[in-house]
Amino acid sequence: MNAIIFDLDGVLCHTDEYHYMAWKAIADELHIPFNREVNNQLRGVSRMESLKLILRNSPVCYSEQEKFLLAEKKNNIYRELLQNITSKDLADGAWTVLEKLHAVHIPMAIGSSSKNTPLIVEKLGIGKFFDAIVDGNQISHSKPDPEVFLLAAEKLHQKPSDCLVVEDAEAGVKAALNGGFLVAGIGPAKDCPNVNYPLLSLSELLAVEGHPA
Ligand code: BG6
Ligand code: MG
Repeated sequence: MNAIIFDLDGVLCHTDEYHYMAWKAIADELHIPFNREVNNQLRGVSRMESLKLILRNSPVCYSEQEKFLLAEKKNNIYRELLQNITSKDLADGAWTVLEKLHAVHIPMAIGSSSKNTPLIVEKLGIGKFFDAIVDGNQISHSKPDPEVFLLAAEKLHQKPSDCLVVEDAEAGVKAALNGGFLVAGIGPAKDCPNVNYPLLSLSELLAVEGHPA
């Protein structure tokens, strides 16, 4: 393994809770049942796809224009919540792990479905650790399509089979496997089928086989 591609939300930081709060506000307004279990199914899934999954629990049929406005409203609530994030919202051990891997010159990228990646990376101050950042603004197919990771590998000048993808979402694990990457699963993705490295914490990455750190 030559390089590491990190998912952002739910792997490097705890923005999943802010996604939950923003979607919950929309679902409550529309009287649609929504809880953390449904929110977990939205991990790694694009904004519009997430909205479609939530609206499946509504008897009302929304027009494309209405869906666009609902997604925009959710994003405004989410971005408002993001204004307050700081390095305290980083996942346990994330800063130390990134610092150590960077110090031994492991090529690293972010591969995220989120169009808010630039704002989050800036707020967390982690941009300096990455050789490439690929996000929802640069891709046309959301996870489980491997596009985001394939573009990240290309930017790192690495073959997919030489890159380890770190994911917390089933859609992300599938995307990585579909692209021919090695996968480390953390959180809910730890027990996904075919994960190469189930991780209890990010710091376990430092002990992954074939890793020079
Ligand atoms: C992923 C999150 O990283 O980004 C999903 O896990 C989210 O929950 C997706 O829906 C898109 O995010 P955004 O910020 O573009 O709405
Ligand atoms: Mg994620």
